[in-house]
This record gives sequence, C-alpha cells and structure tokens, in this order.
Amino acid sequence: MLCWTERETGGTHMKDLAGKTAFVTGAASGIGFGIASALAQAGVKVMLCDIEEAALAAALEKLRLTNADIEGVRADISLKGELAAAAEATLARYGKVHILVNNAGVGGGGPYGMWSDAAWDWTLGVNLRAVVWGIEIFGPLIERPGEGGHIVSTASIAGLVSNGSVAYNVSKYGVVALSEGLRLELAPRGIGVSVLCPGFIRTQIVDSGRNLPERFAGKVGRPPATGPVAERIKFIRDRVAEGIENDWPYIFTDNELEPFIESRFAAIKEGFNQIRGRIPRR
Ligand SMILES: NC(=O)c1ccc[n+]([C@@H]2O[C@H](COP(=O)([O-])OP(=O)(O)OC[C@H]3O[C@@H](n4cnc5c(N)ncnc54)[C@H](O)[C@@H]3O)[C@@H](O)[C@H]2O)c1
Repeated sequence: MLCWTERETGGTHMKDLAGKTAFVTGAASGIGFGIASALAQAGVKVMLCDIEEAALAAALEKLRLTNADIEGVRADISLKGELAAAAEATLARYGKVHILVNNAGVGGGGPYGMWSDAAWDWTLGVNLRAVVWGIEIFGPLIERPGEGGHIVSTASIAGLVSNGSVAYNVSKYGVVALSEGLRLELAPRGIGVSVLCPGFIRTQIVDSGRNLPERFAGKVGRPPATGPVAERIKFIRDRVAEGIENDWPYIFTDNELEPFIESRFAAIKEGFNQIRGRIPRR
C-alpha cells in the first residue's frame, strides 16, 4: 500500500539549501514574503513572483537590504502564459531552478446562494489551476539539472476540513490531493513534495475586535489570539525551510484546528464502521 511517509518515498532531501534557486508565487506579501525571506536567508537565490507590481517592488527593496540574491517578476499566475513567462525569466536570471513554492492564493467564493461562475473561476484559477500549471511548467525545469528539488504548495487547514467558504475549501482540498499524489510520483525523480497547511493568521483586520466597545463585550465572537502576525509568519517561514530540508509531507503552523480534523477523521471512520461486516462478496 502506498503511503506518504518519508520511508516509503525513499526520503528525498534538499539538505543543503545554500546555492539553490527558488521560485515563490504570492511573494510580495504575508506568508509568501516570509518564505522568500527565509529561503534567501538560507542562501537560496529567490525569484519573487506576484500580481501586485508595487507590493513586489517594496518586497524586493526590503529584501535587498539583507544582501539577498533575489529578483522579481510580475505575473498573474491564473494565466498560464504569464506563469510560463515568469519561469522563462527565472531561467534567464539564474540558469536553473530547484525549489517551487506555489503560495499565491485568494479567499474568494461566497456562501451557497451567492455563488457565481466568476467567483468559482477566480478561486479555482489562482488557488488550484495555477498550482497544477506551476508543477507542469517548473517540474521539468527542476528535473533538468539533476540536482534534486522540492515543491511546496500552500493549501490551508481549510484543505483538510471544510466548514468555511466551499469554493476556497474545494481549491485547497485540491492542493492537498495534488501534493499527496505527486509526492509518490515525484520521489523517484528526486523531487520532494510538501503541502503547507496554515491555520488562521491573525492580521489587523481579523483583530478589529480589539476596538470592540465595552457595551458589546462578551457578546461578539472573537478569533483566538495567536500572537502577533510577524512572529507567526516568522514561525511559519522557518517551518517551511525545515520542511523542505527534511522532506515533510505536511507542514502545519499550529494545533489550533487539529480537533476539527480529528472529528472529520472520526466521521469517516464511522462511515466505514456502518458497513463493516455487511459487504456482499465481490
Ligand atoms: N492568512 C491565513 O490565515 C491563511 C491560512 C491558510 C492558508 N493561507 C494561504 O496562504 C497563502 C498566502 O496567503 P497570505 O495569507 O499570505 O495572503 P496575502 O494576501 O498576504 O498574500 C497573497 C499574495 O498572493 C498574491 N496574488 C493573489 N492573486 C495572485 C495572482 N493571480 N497571481 C500572482 N499573485 C497573486 C497577492 O498579491 C499577495 O501578495 C494563500 O494561498 C492562502 O490561501 C492563508
């Protein structure tokens, strides 16, 4: 039976990150910027890719202060041609590429009753289709130098338990399925595959409850405090570097939502229990 643990995949490792080259999408902000900085700090040459030109320029400026070997390319990754052009730009700049980080994502898609084709297309386009294209385009480029490689795709805890925006969940479940399956397929080719499943990252907006008037105190739900955003992103980005070096199948960022996943597993197990011993002979 195939499995996702290190032993079954033969233990593909990128132990020494220094000198390698990475391509990171959604690198101008948040988690992607964190990952790009962690890799750059580890001596990796990083091509930062993002749709937002100004944010990308600001991110590059910030990272250049650290003497990182970095470059930027603007692309809307939900357009295959733009992603392919970004790959070309990476090769033109660095000659080869070893690490692909499919991180860009959008929280699109409304609840049932408010669905639209545009919202589904946007969410699936950026969060899932672009990840498929990223692997399709960068896979052969990573294989070419024969120096091994790694692919990390940012899904979410929402890719393991579905109770939010279903379009977002569908896209992120897709990224988890893609990563689990490809981990087995790409190991013999020397490419490790990890899926990053962050929990909530508390930004200033999520924390608007800090200004909650006294008269509403205790009556409005507030997300649990998970520490300052910068510290969380630092924790996450360091785990991503560790996950690449040690070929972790799943990279988690906290245990906050672990009980939801346990209860999903329990419900699945219960489904099996309901038919146990009652299956007709095949
Ligand atoms: N913040 C969270 O709570 C959380 C939790 C779980 C998973 N995630 C996932 O983490 C990833 C990063 O999100 P974040 O929280 O850092 O958000 P963010 O908005 O700070 O960063 C996302 C980046 O992706 C870029 N982007 C969006 N559409 C793009 C496109 N079509 N082409 C190229 N770049 C594009 C944005 O410009 C932005 O710089 C996403 O995949 C998100 O779904 C976030």
